[in-house]
Amino acid sequence: MRDRNLNSQANQTVLVLDFGGQYKELIARTVREQSVYSEIVPGNITAEEIRRINPIGIILTGGPESVHLPDSSKCTPELFEMGIPVMGICYGMQMMCHMLGGVIETGAGEYGRIPVGEISVLMSHRDSVTKLPDGFTATMWTNSCIAACEDTSRKLYGVQFHPESSHTDGGSGFIRKFLYEVCGAVGDYTLDDYIQTQISLIRRKVGTEKVLLGLSGGVDSSVCAALLSEAIGEQLICIFVDHGFMRLNEGDEIERAFADRQLRFIRVNAQNRFIEKMAGVSEPESKRKIIGEEFIRVFEEEAAALGNVPFLAQGTIYPDIVESGGKTGATIKSHHNVGGLPESLTFAEIIEPLAGLFKDEVRILGGKLGLPTSLSKRQPFPGPGLAVRIMGEITPAKLELVRKSDAILREELEHYNPKPDQYFTVLTNTYSVGVKGDDRTYDYVVALRAVTTSDFMTCEYTPVPHEILGRISSRITNEIPGVSRVVYDITSKPPGTIEWE
Ligand code: XMP
Repeated sequence: MRDRNLNSQANQTVLVLDFGGQYKELIARTVREQSVYSEIVPGNITAEEIRRINPIGIILTGGPESVHLPDSSKCTPELFEMGIPVMGICYGMQMMCHMLGGVIETGAGEYGRIPVGEISVLMSHRDSVTKLPDGFTATMWTNSCIAACEDTSRKLYGVQFHPESSHTDGGSGFIRKFLYEVCGAVGDYTLDDYIQTQISLIRRKVGTEKVLLGLSGGVDSSVCAALLSEAIGEQLICIFVDHGFMRLNEGDEIERAFADRQLRFIRVNAQNRFIEKMAGVSEPESKRKIIGEEFIRVFEEEAAALGNVPFLAQGTIYPDIVESGGKTGATIKSHHNVGGLPESLTFAEIIEPLAGLFKDEVRILGGKLGLPTSLSKRQPFPGPGLAVRIMGEITPAKLELVRKSDAILREELEHYNPKPDQYFTVLTNTYSVGVKGDDRTYDYVVALRAVTTSDFMTCEYTPVPHEILGRISSRITNEIPGVSRVVYDITSKPPGTIEWE
């Protein structure tokens, strides 16, 4: 596990013990929304480690297992004797009840929104607690199971449903009640404090040395730059490699966003270099590889020219750490936007000031630090940029075409709500016959893509109204010479992916 230095503010902390539940990040995030700091730790964390962290409360997540499996995950039995309030969710409740002498049975299960008295709650379980441990009483029921239980004298609480889900009526209220009425939370976690604490930590660590940051224009690296510039001003050097595959005006927007700040901003206009490398390349993976490698070369050259810079900053965020099993730090990680920086670039230390934050917290922080919403609310954008939105070989003319169509799509969707989570155009490598005036045309087909997703690992296509799609199609075919036809991609992921390449 990563050395626990995320909570550098010494806030009251709630630990979320992870038993493999898909909602662990949602639980931790829901706690933070109630102004209480939370961290996700492995379910088998030792009692000694828990004592060291000294949390005000513990939440046990759900998980895919049954307590009856011989090797099913368990927390340390000491957990229930430490006097720390515990809330078990789904598998967490079953495990707690099982370990304390209750009975768990496998049945037909309940899935989806299930009525519990006046409200409905999200259920997703096969096993249920059929006999509570001594000292516990049931407080909520569905038609087929105990939905909630408690032993107030030991401050142990269980819910079979998922209070962290928006599909549970008043869900976050259950967590809030636990935090404030049971754990004694005071609500001392705010993002303003986070900024101030990080600024003083960074200043202390960096002293008068220089810090290098690879700025991609993505949310994480942009917010990281804004925070570091508040802390150390011109000691921060940002390198923004413009590979020429950015969207319309994007390179200039990124530069402008940092123009007024006290920092050294190096924009490397490497457009020619990249497009030359792409000549004759049409295979998607080759494109990514060549762009990734070239990016590294440019970055290395710039870093070498700067001389001695002991610190490298990265926009690593909390989910990067949680999802990589809690390991980060020493080596430069390959989750970098383009291709991962080479390990041969040696820095004495890596600074990751956003490592304690969830994505939406990073976006809020960006707003507080004065970043324009075009950057702080930016959609994900692939490192290789528009290069993977042009099927086949990349040429300057094709780049221009995809850029213009993308700008039209963005303009038209700007005021449409609810906004898709990601949307862009793809220049397919297909020609189609059209007619403009009296002339027959034989031009490109442009595809529109707009998806709804929260995790970008799966998605549904967004059912954008036909009226808007029609307007976009008409604008693209009228305003951009070389396009004869517009199609709308209605593929979900899986089986499709979000990008076309
Ligand atoms: P796919 O196409 O795999 O994309 O469904 C999932 C999400 O990842 C983004 N994406 C990338 N992001 N570097 C990135 O930083 C990349 O090389 C890359 N490729 C895809 C994509 O835009 C979507 O949001």
